[in-house]
Amino acid sequence: MPIVLAMLLSACGMGMMGNPLGRIPSEYADLVNQVAADNDSIARGEVIFQGICATCHGESGRGDGPASAGLDPAPAAIASTEHMRSDAYLFYRISEGGNFSPFNSAMPAFKEVYDENERWDVINYIRTLGNMGMMPDGMMGR
Ligand code: HEC
Repeated sequence: MPIVLAMLLSACGMGMMGNPLGRIPSEYADLVNQVAADNDSIARGEVIFQGICATCHGESGRGDGPASAGLDPAPAAIASTEHMRSDAYLFYRISEGGNFSPFNSAMPAFKEVYDENERWDVINYIRTLGNMGMMPDGMMGR
């Protein structure tokens, strides 16, 4: 592999691009979603997302909620990024937030707020935000 590409890939893994997917803490790294993404779970997740998360992340997950103005880094456009994120990564970020390096963001920690099933419900809802308005249904393989 060309050396520059190798360095770029390793920079991603080190979190230099704000996305340290290679550094999910061990207590989260192996988690997989145990809550079936049925209509009930998605509906519960929607209540949480639209009630709390949308203030920053926006109703359709584009990172443009009313409380997003002036946040640096800006809230993630979850509708676009979730395709690239593992269950473990999403659960880790929702649980621990971003008030630490390398994120240093306003993303709150929710592990004391929502139990594990509720956090999986939100992830099930986030997974439905994927292609809204961006592409015809099915183009992202869902
Ligand atoms: C006060 C504003 C705020 C609220 C409320 C908030 N977030 Fe965030 N969130 C952020 C910011 C800013 C980032 C981007 C910086 C970072 O990754 O820490 C972020 C990042 C994330 C990420 C990482 C996305 C990625 O692609 O790396 C996830 C997942 C996430 N938020 C989920 C949620 C969920 C679910 C809720 C509600 C339970 C929520 N957030 C509530 C501000 C917020």
